[in-house]
Amino acid sequence: MQGAWRLVPLLVLGLAWSLQMGPVLPEPLILIQENFDLSRFMGKWYELAVISTCPHFMQRKRGNPVIVALEMQHVASESNFTTTATSFRNGTCKQKSTGYDLTNTPGRFFYYIERFRADVDAFVVHTNYDEYAMMLLLSIEQPSGNKTTTVKLYSRAINVTAAVLDSFKTLVRQHGMSDDAVIMNQNEVCSRSR
Ligand SMILES: *[C@@H]1O[C@H](CO)[C@@H](O)[C@H](O)[C@H]1NC(C)=O
Ligand SMILES: *[C@@H]1O[C@H](CO)[C@@H](O)[C@H](O)[C@H]1NC(C)=O
Ligand SMILES: *[C@@H]1O[C@H](CO)[C@@H](O)[C@H](O)[C@H]1NC(C)=O
Ligand SMILES: *[C@@H]1O[C@H](CO)[C@@H](O)[C@H](O)[C@H]1NC(C)=O
Repeated sequence: MQGAWRLVPLLVLGLAWSLQMGPVLPEPLILIQENFDLSRFMGKWYELAVISTCPHFMQRKRGNPVIVALEMQHVASESNFTTTATSFRNGTCKQKSTGYDLTNTPGRFFYYIERFRADVDAFVVHTNYDEYAMMLLLSIEQPSGNKTTTVKLYSRAINVTAAVLDSFKTLVRQHGMSDDAVIMNQNEVCSRSR
């Protein structure tokens, strides 16, 4: 699996991150899926597992660890795409769309979360497109300036192989978090009832 990863020159990404958002998280190196193919990445995903350095996020997720269904759509020629998330909250299925801006680095996107006034720098660390995708999200919230690292596992199905899960946990540890704290989402209901 290692062989398929491309090591993006840290200097370049580190510089971009520090110019836009202040000091770089020094480690680990940011890897992005080699030869990233946006069109193959589009479509339906399920968010199966998640971990974050933000205690508020973790508390919220633990309180409602449901599988979030994602639908990604890119209009050819546009330099952005839409991600529509559907999750089961408070007894109903809630839908929310977010615009993701493409960057010059394939597999790297920017988006904004209004609710937390957070700028997010998103990386597709590894994907085989038809099974799983591992996402690294570096966000900064205003006005606190708090920085958060979040790692998510997306899957085309509501389950993944043990090998994929192991690989995800390795990524989590590489970002200094304990894989014991990973939240495994369950009980996807919304996309089935649609
Ligand atoms: C759930 O609904 C109740 C009553 O409408 C509301 O007070 C509460 O804030 C809602 N919780 C969430 C997470 O949306
Ligand atoms: C994508 O960019 C176009 C042109 O700037 C804009 O009109 C559109 O609202 C954007 N879509 C999303 C999903 O952000
Ligand atoms: C920002 O981080 C500090 C220190 O970790 C924390 O006490 C505070 O609650 C955070 N603020 C927000 C808005 O999350
Ligand atoms: C997911 O579950 C289905 C039904 O139990 C099974 O057929 C499939 O092989 C599983 N897929 C993976 C990746 O484990």
